[in-house]
Amino acid sequence: MVGTRTQPVSREGVASPKFADADLQSLAEKYGTPYFLIDELTLRGKVGEVERGFADFKGLFRVAYSVKANFNPSVIRAFASEGIMFDLTAPSELHFILKCGGSPESVIYTSITETYAEYETVLQSGVRKVVVASYNGLLNLAEAAAKTGKTVSTMIRVNPEVHVHAELRGSMGHGKFGLRFEGPSTDTAFQALKKVLSTRYLKFEGFHFHLGSQIEDPSCYGEALDKLEGFILDSRKRLGHFDVNTIDIGGGLPSSYGKRVQTPKDLGGRLVGKLNSLIESIGSRYTLVAESGRYLTAESTVLVSRVVNVKNFGETKYVYVDAGYHLLPDAALLRHEYPVEVVPAGKLNGHKTVLVGRLCDPLDIFPTSSRSRLAGAEVGKLVVFREVGAYSIVMNMPFHSQPRPYVLMRDGKGAYAVARKGQDVETLFMDEGGDCLPN
Ligand SMILES: Cc1ncc(COP(=O)(O)O)c(C=O)c1O
Repeated sequence: MVGTRTQPVSREGVASPKFADADLQSLAEKYGTPYFLIDELTLRGKVGEVERGFADFKGLFRVAYSVKANFNPSVIRAFASEGIMFDLTAPSELHFILKCGGSPESVIYTSITETYAEYETVLQSGVRKVVVASYNGLLNLAEAAAKTGKTVSTMIRVNPEVHVHAELRGSMGHGKFGLRFEGPSTDTAFQALKKVLSTRYLKFEGFHFHLGSQIEDPSCYGEALDKLEGFILDSRKRLGHFDVNTIDIGGGLPSSYGKRVQTPKDLGGRLVGKLNSLIESIGSRYTLVAESGRYLTAESTVLVSRVVNVKNFGETKYVYVDAGYHLLPDAALLRHEYPVEVVPAGKLNGHKTVLVGRLCDPLDIFPTSSRSRLAGAEVGKLVVFREVGAYSIVMNMPFHSQPRPYVLMRDGKGAYAVARKGQDVETLFMDEGGDCLPN
């Protein structure tokens, strides 16, 4: 069963957006390169894909957008109008949500810092669902709830310590995120549960885990749910009955980046039997939440750059573009392979081609996916990086005094608009301290 959305505008079967070569060229003339271009229909369509993946779940299913992937106001507004939830981790993210038409009731607030001041701020702004991940954090939340007089639906973030095959792992290996189920200190899910159940103003809501990002093998979700089920049943024997209203399985849905990866349908197909049997075994028709940043945003966006130089070095042709890893940090940090193509496409010439950015840094060499088409890359042509919508625009850096580029959006009617203005170099100079220089 799928949760109600205020304006169901998603379309069926969304593929990577197609932009006409002529449009990419004329936007390059108008706004300069590099620029990011987001397709709004793809963003909206991804919501429907995730929902359909879990259509056979017998409880209520909700998608939550992890705003950290791209907090551009036009992106948030598109998701807010889909009526989905938001996974937030900072009061500043809440500010963005509230300014872009999102409601505080749609927020699941999962802090890393878990300070009293932070909790007080978000509770005063109307947030009522909070995920705690440390005992100190829980005490801070209890104090903020008592001080503000607000009852908080409190979820406990567990680290189920299962093996995760993913680009970024949030479970086994380190304890930054979430609580162990059991252990000698108060920093355990059991102690947190006991405390929530006995604290005025805290209402126990359920459990949360986040296993990683770009998860290749979905079996970790099933293993995590098995462990959680055992924990719930055991805790009830020790603490008496408590209801579980929500289970949030976090993020991790992968984007394809030109390869075959598990889709929401694959993941839902693998998990839904377990999720439904959990309703029976714990006796609670809980709401299932899947958070997603990468899957909801990655495919919607391209980065359009221009070839500014080419050079032969032995058998290899080096193609220099006016972008760099200051715009796509994961290309350097994670050696992430984005699918890349030349516009207009050219013919194969047998050269080995290496795509390099404009930064004076040996890390600024783009690893490109095997689906990339770099044939015909000549000075003046465009090089389009695909599936760059997650964790890129929000990480743009001014390294090498590079102003932030334009971010454009194509709306549902096919019209192009500015979603973030490009910065000029004088603004960058002032922002970087030029305005602090004595006259
Ligand atoms: C708690 C939590 N939920 C969801 C996500 C989103 O993950 P993804 O973008 O891989 O879907 C993250 C990412 O860091 C996260 O920390």
